[in-house]
Amino acid sequence: MLLPPVTDPPRFDVLPGADARGSLEHCGVVELPRVQDRRGNLTFVEAGRHVPFDIRRVYYLYDVPGGAERGGHGHFKLRQLIVAMSGSFDVVLDDGRRRARYHLNRSYTGLYVCPMIWRELDNFSSGSVCLVLASEPYDEADYLRDYETFRHAGRQADTR
Ligand code: TYD
Repeated sequence: MLLPPVTDPPRFDVLPGADARGSLEHCGVVELPRVQDRRGNLTFVEAGRHVPFDIRRVYYLYDVPGGAERGGHGHFKLRQLIVAMSGSFDVVLDDGRRRARYHLNRSYTGLYVCPMIWRELDNFSSGSVCLVLASEPYDEADYLRDYETFRHAGRQADTR
């Protein structure tokens, strides 16, 4: 998907809590610590300090062929931090009302994605690696894989 154009994601002063969900306002960039050294740079991530959840799963996308798209789903509960460990790619986030495209290309910034957000990843550069820190183990029952079902679930949550 080409649209929308790339914009800068919000940057957090305070990390969003678990109840902050279903809005692009609660998704944004987390600057990770960087220890710069002539021998190479080092970045670390501590649960509860740099990501606002306990890390219960780590997965990564790699060997992504040119033109491929990943994601294409939302999650009821899952909270994630997405990092371009190597290379670059775009993350399109959609809360059912607004859609934004963010370009990730630094191994020391993460994009925090709160629950109830539709995400699509594309524009992967050659050799890129997408690291995801996740708040929950893999659970297919947490996925919303149909966009209209996702929007409907979001609207139901709004009126609760
Ligand atoms: P999916 O989450 O749809 O991939 P993406 O959103 O990155 O494009 O997962 C693709 C497949 O991998 C699907 O069959 C489920 C499986 N999978 C696991 O078994 N464990 C995991 O932690 C993840 C993220 C996916």
